[in-house]
Parts: sequence; structure tokens; C-alpha cells
Amino acid sequence: MNAIAAREYDIFRPAIHYTAKNTWLNDPNGLVYHEGIFHLYYQSNPFGNVWGNMSWGHATSVDLVNWDEKPVAILCDAEEDIFSGSIVIDQDNTSGLGNGQTAPLVAIYTSAYKDSSTRRGTQAQSLAWSSDGGYTWTKHQGNPVLDRSSADFRDPKVFRYDGPIGSYWVMVAVEANEHTVVIYGSDNLRDWRYLSSFGPANATGGVWECPDLFPLPLDGDAEQTKWVLIVNLNPGGPNGGSGGQYFVGNFDGVAFTSETTVNDGMSRTTELDTYHWLDWGRDYYAAVSFHNAPDGRRLMVGWMNNWQYGAAIPTWPWRSPMSLVREISLVSDQGQPRLSQQAADEYRTGNSLSVKTWSALALDEGVLHLHSGAPVEMIEVTFIPESAEEFGLIIRGNGTEGTRIGIRPAANLLIMDRTRSGNTDFHDAFASTDTAPLKPASDGSYTLTLFIDYCSVEVFAQGGQVTMTGLIFPGPDSTRLSLYASRGTAAACLKVTRLVAPPVRIAEPLVLNR
Ligand code: FRU
Repeated sequence: MNAIAAREYDIFRPAIHYTAKNTWLNDPNGLVYHEGIFHLYYQSNPFGNVWGNMSWGHATSVDLVNWDEKPVAILCDAEEDIFSGSIVIDQDNTSGLGNGQTAPLVAIYTSAYKDSSTRRGTQAQSLAWSSDGGYTWTKHQGNPVLDRSSADFRDPKVFRYDGPIGSYWVMVAVEANEHTVVIYGSDNLRDWRYLSSFGPANATGGVWECPDLFPLPLDGDAEQTKWVLIVNLNPGGPNGGSGGQYFVGNFDGVAFTSETTVNDGMSRTTELDTYHWLDWGRDYYAAVSFHNAPDGRRLMVGWMNNWQYGAAIPTWPWRSPMSLVREISLVSDQGQPRLSQQAADEYRTGNSLSVKTWSALALDEGVLHLHSGAPVEMIEVTFIPESAEEFGLIIRGNGTEGTRIGIRPAANLLIMDRTRSGNTDFHDAFASTDTAPLKPASDGSYTLTLFIDYCSVEVFAQGGQVTMTGLIFPGPDSTRLSLYASRGTAAACLKVTRLVAPPVRIAEPLVLNR
């Protein structure tokens, strides 16, 4: 499929992932659940399909699957771009920004000052508030509310801390070039006091961006709650370009201490395989979690793209999807706390069109074509290794092109090979074979769940302890699913669920003129 056809037919528009109607997006911002509605704000260029004019776009959903694009929420102006940040529900109107009738939603975002501003070249944290449930926003008169006279101080994630030493707002943000997360406290969201810093630690191959900090029960036991610090970094990800790492430890209301640091940042050697990654693929970045998600769920979304080639991906008129919404938990693995991630249940329920199962498939050396498939499917597969050096699936194939998702048991590796995944020539860095360490289950088997859409594949391996997300740009007719084994045999059983493509619901066209 050439780029012109892609432009004409918009063949890559996802069915179960959010993307803007006709504009650029990057990081998810201000994820919040409020009065029965999930709000997804995001870095948006309302005037084009490459990065620029950064503003907060907005979409809403009641089920995490179908999203309605709304008018731009917070627009850049002559003095500032609106960079990433978060939203809290200010239940007690601690900020005083409410109208006295309803609790305001307060957005805490980075003001990236432009040349026309007296603060040009710096980044500081600012507020905007909404009294109508997040649809219209007013910038706070007293902005910025937190300024370190820094050029790279950004991406505030704010949450309510309730602990032994008090109840107050906590902000985590980054000094991006210093590989440092800075932590502040506040009683009113307007006045902030410095609490502590964390970093450098583990991966420091790029700037640190978009942090998040939240508690999770270990193995579901609330008595054993630990804190998770998310740090996205770019470049320096596990397979090149953008990536996200996490640390597990404790937050005492002032400082975060990590129990999973393996490199204090002073060592010159970087052991990317020993760090803890939110995702090993090339296209899961700037991931942050929802504020106030219902039923105690910790729900996260990432930008499904990579700054290495993000501006060149062959989609039109929009550019960049969000990942599926993931539900994350903390589990013990050989005594170590590790994140486990699943696609939210909402993608599995109510969407299935048809299910096909294959049990006890014997894979001889070579390729076994399984079914002609559909562009949007969920595949659940378990492989039993035998003599094969590598085995796996070829998805979105047509006999010539296809994306290989494989396992090399002797090397304990999961691979995603998109060198022949379809359109790859739009950028030199795109076609790659990416790898992640993957251990077998105690019975020797490997279980993968894959979510495939028009331009992406997300792999959740071994119960979601290893995930790998990649964009792919196959032709619309490349829907064939095959299994393969090389240099030997393997066995597999699998279930393929065809996911209904929900209608792409779009609000009134945006007014694109300033
Ligand atoms: C991460 C990032 C953030 C910044 C935003 C600007 O992708 O660089 O650090 O706030 O994008 O769009």
C-alpha cells in the first residue's frame, strides 16, 4: 500500500484505539473519571498533523472503547504552549477556584513559554479550572503557580495524599535533563512546597518525562501496599527511542525510596535488560494513569508512537493513536514486586463477534496458515516448546508481508519483527526486530494475548508481566493469521476473537482557525 492510497482511504484509522479526527496528538494528559465519564485529554496540535501549537485536546467515553472527540479544552496562546499535565477533582474546593456550587476540576499543566513571553525559554506549572465537568476551562489568573526558573521543568502529575503525616496534594514532575523526579506538596494547589527529589536511577539514556506515582496492593493484599513511580524517557527505551520505566518502593508523604533500583545512575554501564519497563515495544510512551478511576482500578494509557519516527508515520489526516487502556496491578515474581498489565476488561466484553479455537496444534518446521481473519482481533495463544529454536505467530499477513511475534525459548526472548509488516519505508528507524526477556511458566509454556487493530499490535505476555506494543502499517487485505516454527517443532493452542469495530464517533468538526 503506497502513501497516496493511505491518504485517500484513511486505511490505518484504528477501531478500538482513540485517535483524533484530523489532527496530531501525543501524550495522554489529565486522565480523569468524573460523574460516570472517562475524560481523555491529550497533547494536541489543533491546526495540523505534526507536533506544534501544543494544546489540550479532549475526548470522552463511558466504556473506554468508544470515544467522542470534543472541542479543544485548553488552547495555546501567544505566550505559552500547553504541555503535559494532570487533572484532579478538587472535592473540597481547596483551590478556591470553584463556583461554590460544584467541585471544580483543576488541571495542572506545564506552561512552555514562547519568545513573546517575559518568561521565554522556561517551563513552569500552571492551573486551569472547569466548573462544567471538564468541557470548558479557564486559566488561573495567578499562573504560573510553581516556577523553578528552569528550561526543562515539566509534566506535573498531581494526586491526593492521605497518610500518617497528613492529607494534602502531591505533585510529581521532572527536571527532564537532570533525570530527576521532583516532588512538591500543597494544601490548595496554588502554593507548593518542595518535598524531595528522586533520581537519576536505572535508565538515563534520554530526558525523563511524564512521571506518575501511585500506590498498589502487592498480590491484592492491601496490607502490603507499595508505591509505583513511573518515569518515561526519551530516547533510551529498551529497543530504541521512547520508552517507559518503573520503580517500586515506598512513598512516606515526603520522599520516594525505590527497592528496584539496579543502577544508581553513577555507573557508566547501562543494562537495559535489567531495568523494569512498562513496555518493551517501540510504541508505548508518556504513559500515565487515571485520577479517580472507579472500583479502585489503576488504569493507564500511553501514546502509541515513538519520537524517533512519530512525525513520519503514514497516517492521514490524523497522526498517532493512543494505546488501549490498561489495568495494572502489582504481583510478586520470585520475591520481587513487578507490574502486571492487562487490556481493560471492557475490550473483551460486549465486543465479540465470533470466536474460533484451535487446540493441540502440532507445528512442524515452516508456516501454518490458520485463518483469513479480520483486521481487529484478540488472539490468546499458548505455546509448548519442543525442539524448535523459534516459534510464534505471523499476524496481519498476506503471504508476503506480515508481523512476526515469536519466542526463542533457549534465549528466553520474546520478539516482534516488523521488518516486513507492510509500509515500513517512511523512516529508517521504523523496521526493526525488537526483543524482550521472557521466562516460561513453571510448566514450560508461554502464553500471549494479542490485541490487533488496523495499525498496531499490543502483546501481553505471561499474564501481562511483559508487554510489547508496536505500530504496523499493513495493507487492508493483510488479515491472514499463521503460526510458524523454525528448526524443529512446537505445539500450540489458540483462541481468536474477532472484535467488532465500533463506529468511529466524531463530534462536530473542530474550528481550526485562530
Ligand atoms: C513527552 C513530552 C512532554 C511534554 C510534551 C510536549 O512526549 O515531551 O515532556 O510536556 O511531550 O508535547
